[in-house]
Amino acid sequence: MNIKLITNDAYDAKNNMIVEFIATQELNSHKYYKLLKKAAFTAKQDTLCTLYEKNLLICGIEERSSDNIRSASSIAVKSLKTSNYKSATIAVDKNNIKAVVEGIVLGGYEFNRYKTKTQKIKLKNIYLACKDIAQLKKEFEEAIIIADATCYTRDIVNIAPDDLNPPSFAKLAKKLARENALQCTILGHKELKKERCEAMLAVGRASCHDTKLLHLAYKPKNPKKIISLVGKGLTYDSGGLSLKPATSMVTMKMDKAGACAVLGIIKAVSELKLDIEVHAFVGAVENMIGGNAYKPDDVLSSRKGDTIEVRNTDAEGRLVLADVLDYAQEKVEADYLFDFATLTGACMVALGQYTTGVMGHSSKLKHDISKAANKAGELTASLPFNKHLKKQLKSEIADICNISNKPYGGAITAGLFLDNFIKEENKNRWLHFDIAGSAYTETAWDVNVHGGTGAGVRFMSEFLKSIK
Ligand code: BES
Ligand code: ZN
Ligand code: ZN
Repeated sequence: MNIKLITNDAYDAKNNMIVEFIATQELNSHKYYKLLKKAAFTAKQDTLCTLYEKNLLICGIEERSSDNIRSASSIAVKSLKTSNYKSATIAVDKNNIKAVVEGIVLGGYEFNRYKTKTQKIKLKNIYLACKDIAQLKKEFEEAIIIADATCYTRDIVNIAPDDLNPPSFAKLAKKLARENALQCTILGHKELKKERCEAMLAVGRASCHDTKLLHLAYKPKNPKKIISLVGKGLTYDSGGLSLKPATSMVTMKMDKAGACAVLGIIKAVSELKLDIEVHAFVGAVENMIGGNAYKPDDVLSSRKGDTIEVRNTDAEGRLVLADVLDYAQEKVEADYLFDFATLTGACMVALGQYTTGVMGHSSKLKHDISKAANKAGELTASLPFNKHLKKQLKSEIADICNISNKPYGGAITAGLFLDNFIKEENKNRWLHFDIAGSAYTETAWDVNVHGGTGAGVRFMSEFLKSIK
């Protein structure tokens, strides 16, 4: 399916469906109001009415806003894909083009890697018709890059854990680096030993796949800012010896979604050719069981030097991130440091499935991220740190414990665990994003279909685009 920006009327009307948005309130002034009324169409948000005789697909929206247009476009594209039309045309302007592109690309996304039979789609082209191509071209191209990067992230999240394990993740990162002219460094077991990444290595010890640390870099000349991104890349999280119950283990291939997001973001930034230097660090590890597995009661020595009492091997993401965050801070002096992780089920309890939890010390940075997320159509909410929750990580035998001693506030205590590994000078430059709920879905919502959602890619790309 191609998406093309064209001038009004530059399409072949044969076999073409015109897509129109109508706000609920505008319904009774529509030129086909009588027909629409016959069909009992009320133009409610995300409802459709097809007038085949007129080659017209009418999409209801509650009112004209980007969020509504994005969502309606994704409903429209799903319907068009099941029709016999070869093309569709949507009128765009500077107010709606981004939302329409995102709705089409993200709503029309399919993951077919493991299907041996797929339905043939007749729809070949979607034309976005406007008055003046020159005026919209830049915004159109940027929207396509960001939406495609989101699909790239979804694709890798969706790959089965036997196909995407730490070594194959490293290969995939190398391929991205080659294609997008990024620098790429891969650390294997030997190098990680040298780097004293004992916490990260302990998590991966029972896996038959070697643990890897991936570092990609996009380095334009004279960048305005330097940004480090860190991603949790648990290619599978069985829980380890603190084994997950069977039903909770299903979907844990998605525990690499933070890592997939940072790859998607660096892909977008390099294609947008932004004037900022971006580093993507990924801890690619598989958390398994076995005779050599790390265990509850173990005490690990982190790269930073702090000792960690393990009381639950399923709280493994923070152990991996402790070492990768420390490595990232030593290798790059960044203006901003962001980590993305499917870190806690507690984040979903706190915020629901749809919202990314944002944690950190800088109110200004949290505010700027919230603004970018609103613009990008992603949901984020701040989960505030406090000193009382910090005390819940106290260990009787080591410097810190990998789980809290109380059952509440688990997303924040996980964030505070990471905070322990953030250097003093970076406290106000760092934010942690818990995407446990937002990164993956088993039921379609908004522009998301079953599987990885690409959470983080759109809001971070928007934030990075806004850097002056
Ligand atoms: N990967 C999980 C968190 C998760 C749960 C992500 C559900 C997506 C959906 C993480 O490693 C984990 O297991 N966390 C534990 C922490 C607990 C042992 C303190 C959790 O959330 O239960
Ligand atoms: Zn876990
Ligand atoms: Zn995990």
